[in-house]
Amino acid sequence: MLRRTLLPVKSALWSRQMSVLARSVKYTQHGEPQDVLELVESELPDPKDKQVLVKILAAPINPADINTIQGKYPVKPKFPAVGGNECVAKVLCVGEQVKDLKAGQHVIPLATGLGTWTTHAVYNEDQLMAVSDKVGVAEAATVTVNPCTAYRMLKDFVKLSPGDTVIQNGANSAVGQAVHQLCRAWGINSIGIVRDRPEIADLKQMLQCLGATAVLTEAEIRTSDIFKSGKMKKPRLAFNCVGGKSATEVSRHLDHGGVLVTYGGMSREPVTVATGPLIFKDIAFRGFWMTRWSKENYSSPERSKMFKEIFDLMEQGKFVAPTHEMVPLKNFKDAAAAALNFKGFTGKKYILDMSE
Ligand SMILES: NC(=O)c1ccc[n+]([C@@H]2O[C@H](COP(=O)([O-])OP(=O)(O)OC[C@H]3O[C@@H](n4cnc5c(N)ncnc54)[C@H](OP(=O)(O)O)[C@@H]3O)[C@@H](O)[C@H]2O)c1
Repeated sequence: MLRRTLLPVKSALWSRQMSVLARSVKYTQHGEPQDVLELVESELPDPKDKQVLVKILAAPINPADINTIQGKYPVKPKFPAVGGNECVAKVLCVGEQVKDLKAGQHVIPLATGLGTWTTHAVYNEDQLMAVSDKVGVAEAATVTVNPCTAYRMLKDFVKLSPGDTVIQNGANSAVGQAVHQLCRAWGINSIGIVRDRPEIADLKQMLQCLGATAVLTEAEIRTSDIFKSGKMKKPRLAFNCVGGKSATEVSRHLDHGGVLVTYGGMSREPVTVATGPLIFKDIAFRGFWMTRWSKENYSSPERSKMFKEIFDLMEQGKFVAPTHEMVPLKNFKDAAAAALNFKGFTGKKYILDMSE
């Protein structure tokens, strides 16, 4: 909420003579989101030096955001903390030393853990990256975590060529949807494993529209001859966000020397390894954490290349946001509770809508 009139001045910069009242979803202790989150109003200072005042347009609720609030994530925020880790925002006003950003531009966070479930925020210029407003709001708001995770896992473990195959469980997750779309763009076969459900036919169709080559339930993959028939190359790369038997099953389909990358543990069960494939096919088990990669590659050319490639696909309409629902900020408690329930089957990503 802007308290005083904003005065546009030359070159679309806003006058610094304004005060902004931010509404932020904050917590002062760890716990379940419904118990510890509250909507708090606070006045923001004018941006100084290299600071940038932004109006947040949209910010998703990811499983890691909920785990952070619960205190179950390796990232421990300082209290009081604002929830959320990614967003798309519009620059309202910049400090006098800001060089590369200007009012009106859309930006996304380059830094992690900024706290994005807020209507307005003041960040430093080097914590932000400009993004074309041709990229959709939902796409830009959700780009830094899941599409980047999918991109890195496809690039950094096995050198893939067109015609190669990857297999993943949790293939309907936001990461899974990003994997299918990148595989389609790069000519890679993408085999998805999902849990069975009454609306399985619709789910399979949706994932195939995104680029999945085939989608099988956990029961179907056990008896499928999809790789044995020779119609499709055996996977050299597998992704696991579930754990337990699901991870074991996925790893069984890997080709000799294949790699299974674990990036999530939605079933809360440990990753169990089948002894035979480990010995006789020399498969490898690796882990990936986007937060670490982003910190280690903060300003790297590789990071810029990754964003450019994903944004180009988004602008061409070849990469869309995960299935989602835009939720008004005032409904943050219900959305946070629904976003990560123990049983799963949520079916969509909740994105807090702060564009009003
Ligand atoms: N390591 C990293 O850098 C990194 C980056 C991004 C995400 N992640 C992790 O990746 C996972 C997925 O994230 P996301 O944002 O893509 O999630 P999402 O869109 O909310 O999807 C959640 C996925 O988990 C499955 N699931 C939920 N509860 C389950 C359960 N009890 N047993 C088995 N499967 C279950 C869902 O399948 P159903 O429809 O069958 O429930 C769905 O496929 C999370 O653990 C997240 O923290 C890690």
